[in-house]
Amino acid sequence: MESIDEKLIDRVDRYVEALCAPHDAVLAENLKNAERAGLPSINVSPNEGKLLYLLAKVSGARHILEIGTLGGYSTTWLARALPPGGKVITLEVNPKNADVARKNLGLAGLEDQVEVRVGNAAETMRQMAASGEGPFGLVFIDADKPRYVEYLRLALELTQSGSLILADNVIRNGRVLEASHRDANARGAKAFNDAMAAHPRLESVILPIYRDKLDGLSISRVK
Ligand code: SAH
Ligand code: DHB
Ligand code: MG
Repeated sequence: MESIDEKLIDRVDRYVEALCAPHDAVLAENLKNAERAGLPSINVSPNEGKLLYLLAKVSGARHILEIGTLGGYSTTWLARALPPGGKVITLEVNPKNADVARKNLGLAGLEDQVEVRVGNAAETMRQMAASGEGPFGLVFIDADKPRYVEYLRLALELTQSGSLILADNVIRNGRVLEASHRDANARGAKAFNDAMAAHPRLESVILPIYRDKLDGLSISRVK
């Protein structure tokens, strides 16, 4: 019951990657620069990046907000999906990560399409809402998991009807199945899932995502 054929799932993941998200020199350089700078390898997988790209394209979002930049890998996928004149604003608390991301986005030729803002994302989002920034057509939540519920509340202030709110890492290898797991990240993801599913202004689903472990991406449309 608890066992899944991980080998087969891994082969299928690589199969889809070879077909749908094959080698890309800019994305490979992004990850190499992040690794050289000592950033952790917790970026989305190529397949999840392609999914983010497709969701952004299908939604037609001109203004995208990302919470958690790291080295700008998912940012690159999202920015590539923008229509002409569109923009990604990405929020990052760690100035070193933000520097790596800015360099990577410059190398990708995306400096005009992306703005990296350094600071605590919740604080930045409160300021954005207060100063009337937005609405964003797509918000991608991928920073500190214990604050996901707060990010969801703030994302709802920065979006409008038809906007998409996405959140990464909401399955955490199944840890969210437990009522109160010792892992604070899993508890944060579970609290987010409960808030998202019960929210009267959201229609949602969670897509399981496999990459080394089982995780998931939530997809919500604002009513
Ligand atoms: N979206 C990236 C991965 C992000 S990893 C990708 O897939 O390529 C999570 C990032 O969130 C880290 O860089 C971390 O520094 C940042 N982060 C953590 N807490 C934060 C906070 N309170 N505000 C803003 N960023 C935060
Ligand atoms: C972690 C964070 C992520 O955003 C991710 O995709 C995977 C792992 C983490 O903090 O462990
Ligand atoms: Mg993530």
